[in-house]
Amino acid sequence: MSGNRTFTMLKPDAVENGHIGGILEKITASGFKIVAMKYTQLSKRDAQEFYSVHKERPFYGDLVEFMTRGPIVAAILEKDNAVEDFRALIGATNPAEAADGTIRKLYATSIGENAVHGSDSDENAAIEGAFHFSGREIY
Ligand code: CMP
Repeated sequence: MSGNRTFTMLKPDAVENGHIGGILEKITASGFKIVAMKYTQLSKRDAQEFYSVHKERPFYGDLVEFMTRGPIVAAILEKDNAVEDFRALIGATNPAEAADGTIRKLYATSIGENAVHGSDSDENAAIEGAFHFSGREIY
Protein backbone atom coordinates (compact mmCIF):
# COMPACT_ATOMS: atom_id res chain seq x y z
CA MET A 1 0.00 0.00 0.00
CA SER A 2 1.31 3.44 -0.86
CA GLY A 3 1.85 6.04 1.84
CA ASN A 4 0.44 9.53 2.15
CA ARG A 5 3.58 11.61 2.74
CA THR A 6 6.50 12.74 0.65
CA PHE A 7 9.45 15.04 1.19
CA THR A 8 10.51 17.93 -1.04
CA MET A 9 13.16 20.60 -1.29
CA LEU A 10 12.92 23.73 -3.41
CA LYS A 11 16.56 23.83 -4.46
CA PRO A 12 18.95 26.82 -4.45
CA ASP A 13 18.29 27.60 -8.15
CA ALA A 14 14.54 27.87 -7.56
CA VAL A 15 15.08 30.14 -4.55
CA GLU A 16 17.64 32.33 -6.39
CA ASN A 17 15.30 32.72 -9.36
CA GLY A 18 12.35 33.85 -7.22
CA HIS A 19 10.21 30.74 -7.75
CA ILE A 20 9.31 29.81 -4.15
CA GLY A 21 5.81 31.29 -4.44
CA GLY A 22 5.07 29.84 -7.87
CA ILE A 23 6.19 26.35 -6.91
CA LEU A 24 4.32 26.31 -3.56
CA GLU A 25 1.19 27.52 -5.36
CA LYS A 26 1.43 24.60 -7.82
CA ILE A 27 2.01 22.14 -4.99
CA THR A 28 -0.98 23.24 -2.92
CA ALA A 29 -3.23 23.69 -5.98
CA SER A 30 -2.45 20.04 -6.82
CA GLY A 31 -3.93 18.86 -3.53
CA PHE A 32 -0.86 18.51 -1.34
CA LYS A 33 -1.10 19.72 2.24
CA ILE A 34 2.07 21.17 3.77
CA VAL A 35 2.55 19.44 7.15
CA ALA A 36 6.12 20.72 7.79
CA MET A 37 8.18 23.47 6.16
CA LYS A 38 11.41 25.42 6.75
CA TYR A 39 13.71 27.87 4.97
CA THR A 40 17.24 26.68 5.63
CA GLN A 41 20.67 26.12 4.10
CA LEU A 42 22.44 22.76 3.89
CA SER A 43 25.99 22.51 5.19
CA LYS A 44 28.47 20.53 3.12
CA ARG A 45 28.17 17.67 5.60
CA ASP A 46 24.35 17.76 5.40
CA ALA A 47 24.41 17.56 1.59
CA GLN A 48 27.03 14.80 1.55
CA GLU A 49 24.90 12.75 3.93
CA PHE A 50 21.57 13.50 2.25
CA TYR A 51 22.94 12.47 -1.16
CA SER A 52 25.21 9.65 0.08
CA VAL A 53 23.44 7.15 -2.24
CA HIS A 54 24.97 9.12 -5.13
CA LYS A 55 28.50 9.32 -3.74
CA GLU A 56 30.05 7.13 -6.44
CA ARG A 57 28.33 9.05 -9.24
CA PRO A 58 30.40 11.48 -11.35
CA PHE A 59 28.04 14.39 -10.53
CA TYR A 60 28.22 13.95 -6.71
CA GLY A 61 30.74 16.77 -6.11
CA ASP A 62 28.81 19.23 -8.27
CA LEU A 63 25.54 18.17 -6.61
CA VAL A 64 26.92 18.85 -3.11
CA GLU A 65 28.37 22.18 -4.27
CA PHE A 66 25.06 23.24 -5.84
CA MET A 67 22.84 22.17 -2.97
CA THR A 68 24.94 24.12 -0.45
CA ARG A 69 25.36 27.37 -2.41
CA GLY A 70 22.25 29.07 -1.03
CA PRO A 71 19.08 28.56 0.97
CA ILE A 72 16.44 25.95 0.21
CA VAL A 73 12.86 25.34 1.29
CA ALA A 74 12.37 21.88 2.83
CA ALA A 75 8.85 20.50 3.33
CA ILE A 76 6.85 17.40 4.10
CA LEU A 77 3.71 17.07 1.97
CA GLU A 78 0.60 15.01 2.59
CA LYS A 79 -1.81 13.55 0.00
CA ASP A 80 -3.05 10.07 -0.91
CA ASN A 81 -0.38 8.34 -3.02
CA ALA A 82 1.96 11.24 -2.22
CA VAL A 83 5.30 9.93 -3.54
CA GLU A 84 4.01 8.91 -6.96
CA ASP A 85 1.69 11.88 -7.43
CA PHE A 86 4.41 14.35 -6.45
CA ARG A 87 6.91 12.80 -8.86
CA ALA A 88 4.30 13.18 -11.61
CA LEU A 89 3.80 16.83 -10.63
CA ILE A 90 7.53 17.67 -10.70
CA GLY A 91 8.32 15.77 -13.92
CA ALA A 92 11.46 14.04 -15.18
CA THR A 93 14.86 14.69 -13.51
CA ASN A 94 16.05 16.27 -16.75
CA PRO A 95 13.82 19.30 -17.47
CA ALA A 96 14.38 18.79 -21.21
CA GLU A 97 12.43 15.53 -20.82
CA ALA A 98 9.82 16.83 -18.35
CA ALA A 99 6.18 16.93 -19.47
CA ASP A 100 4.44 20.24 -20.15
CA GLY A 101 2.96 21.79 -17.03
CA THR A 102 5.30 20.00 -14.63
CA ILE A 103 7.29 22.01 -12.10
CA ARG A 104 10.64 21.12 -13.66
CA LYS A 105 9.38 22.00 -17.16
CA LEU A 106 8.28 25.39 -15.82
CA TYR A 107 11.12 26.22 -13.45
CA ALA A 108 14.21 24.00 -13.90
CA THR A 109 17.17 24.95 -16.03
CA SER A 110 19.25 21.75 -16.29
CA ILE A 111 19.51 18.15 -15.06
CA GLY A 112 21.81 19.30 -12.24
CA GLU A 113 19.87 22.46 -11.33
CA ASN A 114 16.40 21.04 -11.51
CA ALA A 115 14.49 23.30 -9.08
CA VAL A 116 12.88 20.70 -6.87
CA HIS A 117 13.45 17.36 -5.14
CA GLY A 118 10.84 14.67 -4.59
CA SER A 119 11.37 11.44 -2.63
CA ASP A 120 11.48 8.30 -4.79
CA SER A 121 9.85 5.87 -2.31
CA ASP A 122 7.79 5.85 0.88
CA GLU A 123 10.84 4.58 2.75
CA ASN A 124 13.04 7.44 1.51
CA ALA A 125 10.26 9.97 2.16
CA ALA A 126 10.31 8.96 5.83
CA ILE A 127 14.14 9.02 6.02
CA GLU A 128 14.43 12.37 4.23
CA GLY A 129 11.63 13.97 6.27
CA ALA A 130 13.29 12.85 9.50
CA PHE A 131 16.62 14.26 8.26
CA HIS A 132 15.13 17.78 8.27
CA PHE A 133 12.31 17.75 10.83
CA SER A 134 11.75 16.59 14.37
CA GLY A 135 8.36 15.15 15.33
CA ARG A 136 7.27 18.41 16.94
CA GLU A 137 7.88 20.34 13.69
CA ILE A 138 5.34 18.21 11.78
CA TYR A 139 1.70 19.32 12.04
P1 CMP B 1 17.12 14.65 -7.42
O1 CMP B 1 16.47 13.53 -8.13
O2 CMP B 1 16.33 15.58 -6.60
O3 CMP B 1 18.30 14.05 -6.51
C1 CMP B 1 19.50 13.63 -7.12
C2 CMP B 1 20.02 14.75 -7.94
O4 CMP B 1 21.22 14.52 -8.62
C3 CMP B 1 19.03 15.04 -9.06
O5 CMP B 1 17.86 15.56 -8.52
C4 CMP B 1 19.84 16.00 -9.90
O6 CMP B 1 19.85 17.30 -9.32
C5 CMP B 1 21.21 15.39 -9.73
N1 CMP B 1 21.53 14.60 -10.93
C6 CMP B 1 20.98 13.44 -11.30
N2 CMP B 1 21.52 13.02 -12.46
C7 CMP B 1 22.43 13.95 -12.82
C8 CMP B 1 23.32 14.08 -13.90
N3 CMP B 1 23.38 13.16 -14.86
N4 CMP B 1 24.10 15.16 -13.93
C9 CMP B 1 24.04 16.08 -12.94
N5 CMP B 1 23.22 16.01 -11.87
C10 CMP B 1 22.42 14.96 -11.82
